[in-house]
Amino acid sequence: MKIKGLIFDLDGVIVSTEINHFDAWSAIAEQLSIEFNEADNEKIKGLSRSDSLDVICDLGSIQLTYYEKLEYLELKNKMYLDSIQSLNKDDLLPGVLHLLKQAKKKDLKLALGSSSKNAKYILQKLFITDYFDVIIDGNDVESPKPDPEVFLKGAEGMGLNVEDIVVFEDAESGILAAQTGGFYTVAVGNRKLKNCADECIDHLGEFLLKNYE
Ligand code: BG6
Ligand code: MG
Repeated sequence: MKIKGLIFDLDGVIVSTEINHFDAWSAIAEQLSIEFNEADNEKIKGLSRSDSLDVICDLGSIQLTYYEKLEYLELKNKMYLDSIQSLNKDDLLPGVLHLLKQAKKKDLKLALGSSSKNAKYILQKLFITDYFDVIIDGNDVESPKPDPEVFLKGAEGMGLNVEDIVVFEDAESGILAAQTGGFYTVAVGNRKLKNCADECIDHLGEFLLKNYE
């Protein structure tokens, strides 16, 4: 495969914010008296904020009203944002900066494909916004992951065909989305995905562009 473009998920691929999402959801689940553990968290990784709350409520067989749901979503986001206040370049996961720089040198197109509505804010905090030719986040899609829309919009923005693009993901919902869209998939930092992705690596430092020229 000769790669022409890369699409990166954000949380858990570029930056270590998955743990902040997990902590905030754990606090919400506790308020709702719902048991929520790391295995449950695997099911919501990559989903939109709203879909994540639906899954958590299903776990506890709880049905919230429309307004209760809005309140919990706002509270979760407030807790999450408070917890990432001091996020900075040191929180970039291993190999990220090197791969972004190498890809730019080789004139590859780069896109972000994230479910997060906080994605642009986080990229700014990490000082890596300018590396991306296209940024598609939770504000830009009607159908969130596992629907492929976020990645298909990324491909369209880069002006490339899906078969020339690699998608990096740490969540099952994201790998599914990319596969449905027809992309080459690389699971990052999640060995449980090794059977469903095309490739599985521990961190982006293991991905060598020279093997795809
Ligand atoms: C995804 C995360 O990137 O974004 C999920 O994997 C998170 O854990 C989702 O729920 C939505 O993020 P946000 O920042 O819009 O609440
Ligand atoms: Mg992720």
